[in-house]
Amino acid sequence: MRVGVVGLGTMGAGIAQLCVEAGIDTVGREVTADLGERARDRIVHFLTRKVEKGQIESFEVERLSLTVDLTDLAKCDLVIEAIVEELEPKRQLFTELERICRPDTVLATNTSALSVTEIAAAVSSPERVVGMHFFNPAPLMPLVEIVRAELTVDAAFDTAFSLAETLGKHPIRCHDTPGFVVNRVLIPLLNDCIRVLDEARVTVEDLDAGMKHGAGWPMGPCELVDLVGVDVHVHASEALYEKTRETRMAPPPRLVAMKNAGLLGRKSGRGFYTY
Ligand code: CAA
Repeated sequence: MRVGVVGLGTMGAGIAQLCVEAGIDTVGREVTADLGERARDRIVHFLTRKVEKGQIESFEVERLSLTVDLTDLAKCDLVIEAIVEELEPKRQLFTELERICRPDTVLATNTSALSVTEIAAAVSSPERVVGMHFFNPAPLMPLVEIVRAELTVDAAFDTAFSLAETLGKHPIRCHDTPGFVVNRVLIPLLNDCIRVLDEARVTVEDLDAGMKHGAGWPMGPCELVDLVGVDVHVHASEALYEKTRETRMAPPPRLVAMKNAGLLGRKSGRGFYTY
């Protein structure tokens, strides 16, 4: 099997890393060679650590080929899109992929808060479009939501499901509803947590300690928003609020202010915490 990954940011690089680790020939596409190489360096770093820790014996970095040219994805059996989380660029990309790839190539999107059906509607063969929603950090989080859009056929759905299993993940099946399964629950919950910060006049550290030690979360809500990225979380909240009109989905003003000030979490060096 040959897998294409379009966009090698945090999610795409993590997905490509999983493919390389599983011994799958992988074509990674970024807009510049420099961005592609940076992603490869990260992948090699994490896989080397796994070898050092004895978690894997070895890996073959040659499994990953980098390109800036979408036509290099022509021979892929499945392509996973992990570009910017905006509808129009994704729809545009899918029309190009439809033109470049074989008719039986499965086209998957890693979108977390957009509609897979709306992305699929951009192409003339929407039946081969499916959601494959990985969680951040993709190499560490076991879950992948396999999302059935309105017109997805079983063959495409099953191919995506079985790829997730090959990658060592725990896939679950769901339909294309706003936020799918986990974000439908997690996004309003995180927003509640952030509102509680002000309501209960609790410190960031104590709120995180509360959810870790009182609810068994592996990391506190503020740590988690910092990991996901304040901008990413606000964007996903807005997208879900737009679709559901549920007030708990709307991003808390405190998070919007943080986003506007460039306090984006780990990636900018400062969010709720300083890194
Ligand atoms: N690839 C491989 N290894 C990686 C890695 C990566 N990308 N990133 C980190 N690691 C490594 C670390 O380097 C570390 O190894 P060494 O330090 O020995 O080199 C190892 O993984 C373990 O790291 P940690 O000690 O930080 O691991 P942990 O046991 O504390 O667990 C965690 C980390 C899995 C992230 C855990 O804290 C957790 O489950 N947190 C919750 C995360 C979560 O909820 N994610 C979902 C976010 S929501 C989302 O993603 C939806 C969306 O659409 C926005």
